[in-house]
Amino acid sequence: MKKEMPLTLELEPGTYHWCTCGNTKKEPFCDGSHKGTGKVPHMFKIILKRKYQICNCHLTRNPPFCDGICRHMKEERG
Ligand code: FES
Repeated sequence: MKKEMPLTLELEPGTYHWCTCGNTKKEPFCDGSHKGTGKVPHMFKIILKRKYQICNCHLTRNPPFCDGICRHMKEERG
């Protein structure tokens, strides 16, 4: 199944843990599957309820938010 990049999600105010290891079954959020990988989730807080573009390619330079690098990858792949 093709991954949706980025994920557009409406998030409620609160604290979230974005997966950095790529093993989660609950993308883009950590489900604890990182144990033993040496990686830890990236914690972030949401203040305003609205839609956010969350990185799902794990290459963003502004985690957990999409910085557009996936669009460059798509353009390069054609
Ligand atoms: S499951 Fe990937 S960081 Fe927790």
